[in-house]
Amino acid sequence: MSFPKNFLWGAAAAAYQIEGGASEDGRGPSIWDVYCHDKTIDPKTGRSNIDNGDTGDIACDHYHRYKEDVALMKEIGLKAYRLSISWTRILPEGKGKINEKGLEFYDNLVDELLEAGIEPYITLFHWDYPQALMKLGGWSNPESVDWFVEYVKIVINRLSDRVTHWITFNEPQCHIIIGHLLGECAPKLKLTYEEVFQAMHHLFLAHGKAVQTIRKYTRKPCKVGYAPCASDVYPVTDSEEDVEAARKAAFDASERHLWNTSWWIDPVILGKYPEEGVKAFAEHFPKALLKKEDLEQICQPLDFLGINLYRGIGIRSSEEGYVRADNKIGYDRTAFKWPVTPKILRYMPKFLYERYKMPIIITENGLSMADWVSLDGKVHDPQRIDFMNRYLLELSKTIEEGIPVNGYFAWSIMDNFEWSQGYGERFGLIHVDFETQLRTLKDSAYWYHNIITTNGECL
Ligand code: NOJ
Repeated sequence: MSFPKNFLWGAAAAAYQIEGGASEDGRGPSIWDVYCHDKTIDPKTGRSNIDNGDTGDIACDHYHRYKEDVALMKEIGLKAYRLSISWTRILPEGKGKINEKGLEFYDNLVDELLEAGIEPYITLFHWDYPQALMKLGGWSNPESVDWFVEYVKIVINRLSDRVTHWITFNEPQCHIIIGHLLGECAPKLKLTYEEVFQAMHHLFLAHGKAVQTIRKYTRKPCKVGYAPCASDVYPVTDSEEDVEAARKAAFDASERHLWNTSWWIDPVILGKYPEEGVKAFAEHFPKALLKKEDLEQICQPLDFLGINLYRGIGIRSSEEGYVRADNKIGYDRTAFKWPVTPKILRYMPKFLYERYKMPIIITENGLSMADWVSLDGKVHDPQRIDFMNRYLLELSKTIEEGIPVNGYFAWSIMDNFEWSQGYGERFGLIHVDFETQLRTLKDSAYWYHNIITTNGECL
């Protein structure tokens, strides 16, 4: 298998999941700090917010160990590293007073990466919303759009002389649906549908205005993208009928839930809310959100569509159009019990490209496994190697078909704080001992090194 020349082989992580240094050098609290430290036990489930009461206070201590981490990235041979910025490291109160120490950290990290020949891809928002702004209403407050723009402008002014790849939002659907509608992660809100649509709309406006801000203030020509996840599906067979059925399911917003991809990408790239979705939620969807001027602000030209893809649902055609297939008994699954479905890397980029006509980057893909350091001092993770192998083979088929997929970021560069699961799920290419902070390259990291140096030819 060969991948296009200059294919971007990378790995990713996010600020709250790896940095630690939660209250150091003036960093302010985010909603995730507050959520992790709320040790209330839910009487229904008998569980605290985070498994084992874990927090991101120390995480991988990347805040202090970033040099060692960049050296390991270099050893793996990464061409790019996707990181996110902690908003409250830069603006402890979310707006107003700037924390110079926070900016210095990202200055140093970017310099270290560039020196190692690794291209930084910066995500501006990966769920760690400033607590001070949440107290003012968060995304429900119309001013939240300007707060985000203020923060983005500061980051761009400081880093855009060296950073040329930006991503506005990571998986806004998890942040909004799980955090604001279901109340099952930070900020633990259970808003009404009306309120959720309003918050989504503000987030979309913040995206659109951030894109304009990046383009206006960047010091170097740059590329801007967006990284949602998708309602991932794949056809159970490659027959034309099943492929068509999966294509329909991928963007079908007629069901009354908000996970469908079209809710999250159509406004941003096509400049409209999905009609079927608006119809399905007719009594809850505020008509004012269909305002043309707003949609024009939201829909700004982008350079790439990032997409996080992990697992999918098999779809087959049926008389009604499509049906979801059950996982077969004893299906292949990761430690998280997510089904192993490599075909999503063949079909989702294709479906997304057909609809949105934009170059695609896989901004996350990977799996959690119960990895540990063996007696021989190594970390053997054959299942991660097999998983990545299978997914990348499927991706290469899509590329061969002519779909412009320009890069692949493994999630994650290292084991880290997996949100509500705390340190219980290991997604890394690098094993982290959270007691000693010892890093060990897993077998998959050496395997990935080979993939990168042969540009996928050894798959
Ligand atoms: C998507 C999220 O962006 C990331 O933060 C998370 O750790 C991975 N999925 C794995 O669940």
